[in-house]
Amino acid sequence: MAVGGGVTEGLLVTLEGLDGVGKTTQLERLKTWLLPQREVLAVREPGGTELGESLREVILHRIEVKSAVAELLVFAAARAELMDEVVGPALSRGAVVLMDRFIDSSVAYQAFGLGIPVETVMVINRVATKGRRPDLTVWLKGDSYLIDQTDRLEKRDRQYFRRVHAGYDWLSHEEPERWLVIDCRQSVDAIFHQIAASIAGRLNHEGRGELQ
Ligand code: TYD
Repeated sequence: MAVGGGVTEGLLVTLEGLDGVGKTTQLERLKTWLLPQREVLAVREPGGTELGESLREVILHRIEVKSAVAELLVFAAARAELMDEVVGPALSRGAVVLMDRFIDSSVAYQAFGLGIPVETVMVINRVATKGRRPDLTVWLKGDSYLIDQTDRLEKRDRQYFRRVHAGYDWLSHEEPERWLVIDCRQSVDAIFHQIAASIAGRLNHEGRGELQ
């Protein structure tokens, strides 16, 4: 299980998709698989820092933010703090960072969902992340809208989630080499093996050490 040395830069893997498609389950599986072999960090957005968790509580449960731009900026503020404090340093140490949502959520939800121009969202994302983009993005694709309505954002209407879905579709076609699109109706095992193979391929291809 040992992994070769010479690692200088980590791998940033993001999981995207509508609420309830199984991102968190896969994140845990991937973390358990990678942990004996690599430094692994698993984080969720918004969250992962004191500021991020506070903003998460505010935006998901406490305050109905009226302005779409304000909503975009709240997610971006949480993202900037997470990148500076947690994700950036981990990548510098050579860790594999697994993120439950990242920049593409803002494009799908705030641009396609709420109607903010895509270019505006991308500029804000670039500022928040200092331009760091995912090495691999997994879209757990599903149109079942398994909304359990546990937070404020999940109470938006069906049309909103259709637009978010269209956003992911657009993004995955824009940059196919970055995206791995997986039908979320497959078994947890089947999905896990596809993601793991893609991560192993990227790590091995880039000479970051053999994974098993
Ligand atoms: P969460 O409970 O984490 O949902 P999930 O389990 O689906 O990940 O809530 C995150 C919510 O925030 C989710 O509805 C998507 C939304 N969101 C945005 O609208 N924009 C963003 O940039 C991010 C990171 C999340």
